[in-house]
Amino acid sequence: MKTATIFRTTSFILGAALVLFAPTSCGSKTQAPAPAENVKSGGPAIDVSLAPTPPMGFNTWNKFGCSVDEKLIRETADAMVATGMLEAGYKYLVIDDCWQVARDASGRIVADPQRFPAGMKALADYVHGKGLLFGLYTDVGPKTCAGRPASFGFEDMDAASYAEWGVDYVKVDWCNADNLDPRVEYTKFRDALRKAGRPIVLSICEWGRNDPWTWAPGVGQLWRTTADIGDNWESVAWIINANSRLYESAGPGRWNDPDMLEVGNGGMTRDEYKAHFSLWAIMAAPLMAGNDLRVMTEETKEILLNREVIEIDQDLLGVQGRIVIDRGYGGQVWMKPLADGSCAVAFLNLSSKELELYVRWAQIGIPAGPARVRDLWAHKDLGVHSDLGTHFDQRFKATVPPHGVVLVRIRPGQ
Ligand code: GLA
Repeated sequence: MKTATIFRTTSFILGAALVLFAPTSCGSKTQAPAPAENVKSGGPAIDVSLAPTPPMGFNTWNKFGCSVDEKLIRETADAMVATGMLEAGYKYLVIDDCWQVARDASGRIVADPQRFPAGMKALADYVHGKGLLFGLYTDVGPKTCAGRPASFGFEDMDAASYAEWGVDYVKVDWCNADNLDPRVEYTKFRDALRKAGRPIVLSICEWGRNDPWTWAPGVGQLWRTTADIGDNWESVAWIINANSRLYESAGPGRWNDPDMLEVGNGGMTRDEYKAHFSLWAIMAAPLMAGNDLRVMTEETKEILLNREVIEIDQDLLGVQGRIVIDRGYGGQVWMKPLADGSCAVAFLNLSSKELELYVRWAQIGIPAGPARVRDLWAHKDLGVHSDLGTHFDQRFKATVPPHGVVLVRIRPGQ
C-alpha cells in the first residue's frame, strides 16, 4: 500500500473511531454526530432543526387527564412565563387527549365547543403571544385512548387543521391501532405534516411496543420507549431500567422518550423527584412537566428550574448517558459526555438504604489526574479531585440517600 493510501486509510479509521468513541466517554471536546448518519444506515434523513436538543415543555395529561379547557391552558401559559419555566427552556404547551369531540360534515376535527369556546386558533395565538409554542394530541387509530375521534384516514386533513391553527408540536398515540403497522402509520403522519407546510414536531407515542428506536429516527423527533409513567418510585425505577438500554439510538433530532415528568404531583419524596429529574436529564430525555404549574411549591420549582441539571439534558452533543457501574444492590453510576469535554455523572441509589458509591476517572473516560467536581443539586464546587489509585479510598466517593441521586459535573484539569 502506498504511504498516502495508508495515511488516508489510517485517518479514516481514526476518524471513524472518534465518531464511535466520542459519545461514550468524556474528557475531550467532541462534535455532535452528523445528522446524515441515519441516511448512510439506510434510514430516512433526520431534520435536526426541529429538535436539536430534547424538547421541553408542559403536557396536561399527568395532572389533568381529560379535564382540559381553554382557561387551564391560558393560565398555564401565564404561569410558564411568570415562574420562569419558559426562560429555563420549557417552551411547548401541549394539550393531551380530550380536546376533540367530533368531526364536522366535511370531516374536519372539531374542538370541544364547551371547553374551548374560542377555538384552537385563538388559543394558539394566546400561547404564541406569551412566547411559547403550542401542541396538540391525536392518535393514529380511529379513536384516541380516551375514545375521542382520532386521525386514521384523516391524516392530511388533521395536519392541515393543525397548521392552520398554528400548532407546533403533535403527540400521536397508538390506541386502537394494534392491527396497523406503526412505521407505515407514523410515516404517513410525518408526510401529512410536511404537506401541511408548517414545521411541527412529531412526538411518537407507541409505548415502545414495536421497537420504535429502530425505525422512528427520521420519522418523528421523539418516541416513547415504555408504557405510561405513574407518580411513584417503582414506575420511575422501572422506566429508567428500560430506557437505559437504548442510549445508542438517541442523538440530535432523535430522542428516546421515557414519558413525561411527574415532579410536583405529590406521589414521591423530594429525593425521588430529584432522582427522577436527574435521570431524565442524564438520559437526554424530553422534559415535559406534568404538574400544575399554577401552584408549584418552592421544592418543585427548585427541581424543575434547576438550570445546571437542565443544561445536562440540553447539552448540544446530544448523547444519552449510560450506566458505567452497576452494583447488584441498587447502586448505579451513570455518565453523560458533554460538548465542552466535561462529564455529567449521576450516582443513583435505587435501594432503600443509604449507599456509598465510588468512581474512577478511567471508568468515565477522563484522564487520570486532577479534575474539578461540581455538585449540581447543592450548586457547590467540591474542589479538585484526583484519581489516585485502585483502592476505594482513593476514588471519588458520593454518599447517596435511598431512592436518591448525587449529580455532579466533572471537568478534567485544575
Ligand atoms: C396514552 C398515552 C398517555 C396519554 C393517554 C391519553 O395512555 O401513553 O401519555 O396521552 O393515552 O389518553
